[in-house]
Amino acid sequence: MISIAILGHGVVGSGVVEIINNNINKLNEKIGEEIKIAKILVRDVKKHLNKVNSNLLTDNIEDIFSENVDIVVEVMGGIDPAYDYIKKFLNLKKHIVTANKDLIAKHGDELLDMAKENGVRLHFEASVGGGIPILRPLSECLSGNNFNSINAILNGTTNFILSRMDKDNMDYEEALKYAQELGFAEANPESDVMGYDSARKLSILSTIAYNEKVNWEKIHIQGITDIDKNDIEFAKKIGCRIKLLGISKKENGNIYASVRPVMVNKDSSIGKIEDEFNGIVLDGDAVGNVMFYGKGAGKLPTASAVFGDIVDIIQNNRQKLACFNKKEALIQKNYQNKCK
Ligand code: HSE
Repeated sequence: MISIAILGHGVVGSGVVEIINNNINKLNEKIGEEIKIAKILVRDVKKHLNKVNSNLLTDNIEDIFSENVDIVVEVMGGIDPAYDYIKKFLNLKKHIVTANKDLIAKHGDELLDMAKENGVRLHFEASVGGGIPILRPLSECLSGNNFNSINAILNGTTNFILSRMDKDNMDYEEALKYAQELGFAEANPESDVMGYDSARKLSILSTIAYNEKVNWEKIHIQGITDIDKNDIEFAKKIGCRIKLLGISKKENGNIYASVRPVMVNKDSSIGKIEDEFNGIVLDGDAVGNVMFYGKGAGKLPTASAVFGDIVDIIQNNRQKLACFNKKEALIQKNYQNKCK
């Protein structure tokens, strides 16, 4: 039985609970493992009573530190107190799954080192591209590449706003409000519209792709707050759309990185990406261009990536166990042979 604690029960947290509950049987059949949610940390227990079993809820992190869980899922967002909690859980040798790009962009290297020292795993697939599998493909399937560039739409909220301004003639404020209602935007939408969220995601992707730490605070950032109806109309007239792009490239050993609104041909692969969808084009020296596309924000897409990380941790641990068991069996057989 794998026991899971979830820190946070907002948009993403409730999605994680839903996906775990929907997949418990399938997971059991597929990998022969049962999972259960042991505790959910919330700010105000009363607000969540009608949504989940009240025995699972706590507003006291100490209840979770003392609970015997295998995997801690952090979907609270923000740096504080998530950073301190995760460090403590890593020292308690708990595997961590997080969707927290702010935290990973700022402290990812330190937390990964801590996970390694403690012999546990830290997964953060949902921190970039929402439901799109991108970090594990980049670091595993595509590891035979040196990457030349990344061109990407990495923020669902801003792409949704720009799409609404383009297709429905909404003004910026109206489109932002709509994105917030749909649960795409961060609690403080400044991070989305100013381009900080894209820059953090670009830094995570670029750090993995180029194998050098790309500090998000050194990325040149321009958001979409100055884009108005005139800009959208002008782009339309010349067959373009305005997209907030995260662009990085490695040239002659130097890394260039920026986040800014760019006019792209409306029929290009990036130009056709609309609403809350994200798209990431990687240029690798072996594979050439590969594009990843899908929903970059929202409850279930993000929770889908979180659940994938949980399963990856369970499967990897099982593989190690399976390997260990096989070796034991062989020794027992030799022993019996000698005794005969
Ligand atoms: N606010 C983020 C976005 C959520 O709109 O892309 C997913 O990281």
